[in-house]
Amino acid sequence: MSDKLVNNKPINDKQAVAIHAANFVKNGMLVGLGTGSTANYFIEELARRQLEENLKVTTIASSIVSMNKAQSLGLSVIALNQVAEIDLYVDGADEITPDMTLLKGRGYDLVLEKLLAKAAKQFLVVADKSKLVDRIGTNFAIPIEVMPMAWKAAKRSLEAAGGVGDLRQNVAKDGLTITSHGSLVLDMTFDKSMSESALNQLINNIPGVVEHGIFYGLASSILIADNGNVTKLESNSAVFNSKDKR
Ligand code: 5RP
Repeated sequence: MSDKLVNNKPINDKQAVAIHAANFVKNGMLVGLGTGSTANYFIEELARRQLEENLKVTTIASSIVSMNKAQSLGLSVIALNQVAEIDLYVDGADEITPDMTLLKGRGYDLVLEKLLAKAAKQFLVVADKSKLVDRIGTNFAIPIEVMPMAWKAAKRSLEAAGGVGDLRQNVAKDGLTITSHGSLVLDMTFDKSMSESALNQLINNIPGVVEHGIFYGLASSILIADNGNVTKLESNSAVFNSKDKR
């Protein structure tokens, strides 16, 4: 397994919260695997528990990267089209608001992530404290996956609602980002006055939009790690109101 504990302690808050989340997994569960560095630690811990504690789990991955990682560590991975419901989905987030709305998809694997979040009986979000914000869009633009043929029409509709942004470039900056599902990505920002719920509804209603990064009303619980301590958050929890939040 890759990142080991140092002196029997997690090496950072992402690993701490991921290890904590893995304790919620019980024998026989069907578990959704998120995507990103925090989700990777969770996958590693699940594989460790399978090996060392004889934990019996089946998993479904939210991306090819997570699927490859899970399989390389010996976890059994099935496809989403084999099931309608999963027991537990554990994934990270880019931003988390006091009403437990999430912004996800910086890694642009939005479609499967939202399908798993919706299909899960429990969607457990894992993050370090840096992800807490007052409103969605504080640190990142909202990623919106669009069908390639519809990107101009979708962008125009988003602009009509005050959105500002453009197509995401690839990492080398010599072309466009293409998602796992062949979509383009519009990264859009909106006026601060627009609520998470209004934004969610607005983007949901635009033809040609495949999926977007606002996860509204989907999180069941949120685990936040801060200097090695993990707290389970409820909506309007005090930790959201602490002065040192970033
Ligand atoms: C990918 C995601 C990730 O969960 C999010 O970007 C957080 O990543 P990390 O755990 O690396 O900070 O939504 O689509």
